[in-house]
Amino acid sequence: MNLFEVYPLYDVTPVKAKDCYLYDDNNIKYLDLYGGHGVISIGHTHPIYVAKLKNQLDKLGFYSNAIQNPLQVELANKLGEISKCPEYNLFLCNSGAEANENALKLASFQTGKSRVISFQNSFHGRTSAAVAVTDNPKINAPLNKQQITTFLPLNDIGLVETELKKNDVCAIIIEGIQGVGGLDQGRTDFFVALEKLCDDYQAILILDEIQSGYGRSGKFFAFQYHNIKPDIITTAKGMANGFPMGGVLIAPKLKASYGMLGTTFGGNHMACTAALSVLEVIETEELMENVIEVSNYFLSEIKQITQVKKVKGRGLMTGVEFNFEVSDLRKQLIYDYQIFTGGALNKNLLRILPPLTVTKAHIDVLIKALKEILSK
Ligand SMILES: Cc1ncc(COP(=O)(O)O)c(C=O)c1O
Repeated sequence: MNLFEVYPLYDVTPVKAKDCYLYDDNNIKYLDLYGGHGVISIGHTHPIYVAKLKNQLDKLGFYSNAIQNPLQVELANKLGEISKCPEYNLFLCNSGAEANENALKLASFQTGKSRVISFQNSFHGRTSAAVAVTDNPKINAPLNKQQITTFLPLNDIGLVETELKKNDVCAIIIEGIQGVGGLDQGRTDFFVALEKLCDDYQAILILDEIQSGYGRSGKFFAFQYHNIKPDIITTAKGMANGFPMGGVLIAPKLKASYGMLGTTFGGNHMACTAALSVLEVIETEELMENVIEVSNYFLSEIKQITQVKKVKGRGLMTGVEFNFEVSDLRKQLIYDYQIFTGGALNKNLLRILPPLTVTKAHIDVLIKALKEILSK
């Protein structure tokens, strides 16, 4: 059997990893400034993470959601405390798309409505409802197009209210900071007005923190820079440092009923153990403080690269925009300098999403490489 070829691949085969480094099958060392799409939060193979997962696997790897699982309760408590969202209720699933799928479904159950407002350049995943609110017609099949979504520009609150007045909108979904689209974000006044309008028109405000959450922005959730409380928050990526996991944080006004949502694998013993280790390390190693320190350093050092047009994003969720397409630059960084970075829908944007354990010395390595490549 062959693989279904949906991914264009770089010719690198990592076989082991440690903190911010990957090692390939020839034992060549790569600096990971991309974390496999912003997934590696506490560094690769963190000793606490590995020890806890091995220990849990020896005890119990999986049983269904029909039994008591104290690890889920422990995770909900710990997540509520660290994220400063203790009043929310937690539903656990397996991926970002699934988290958004459930969030949208909840919004529709709650309001009895079905149209969704989303934003230009958004990315929310590839499953049915999640892809329908993603602003990319190429990845929406005719089946997905049955769902009605209205895509609006970020930061135009007048247009949002015009749509809400039609009284058929169940949810507004917005990324804390846009990821795949290219690191644009709503202004504080826009987020605050969205929160108020959702209340006024009985729509549910869903904050997709799948990429921008878990400390990456320097706060636990990026929306916390705007002092709002969304109705639903979705998480995945950094949540379990590579173990597949998603979460839906649900405000108390949305009430659960048996059978409303469900999953076979979501919140299993291994995933919860992985997620608990991530929270422990974020806290004990003060990784959110590290995000602020290293990202400030990055912002000052990147000024040395005169070809940079704009730096976007926040914390360790950064986009460096040039006035040329960066695909060749990314290839040179990988093959000539052994540095992983990411791309975006905006082809001129280099995306930097390192593990939150990244240091200033790692940033120096990138700056040196960029200087050398761009002076050729
Ligand atoms: C903001 C955002 N939402 C949702 C998703 C989908 O997550 P997953 O690939 O885990 O389904 C992604 C993935 O890149 C994302 O960046």
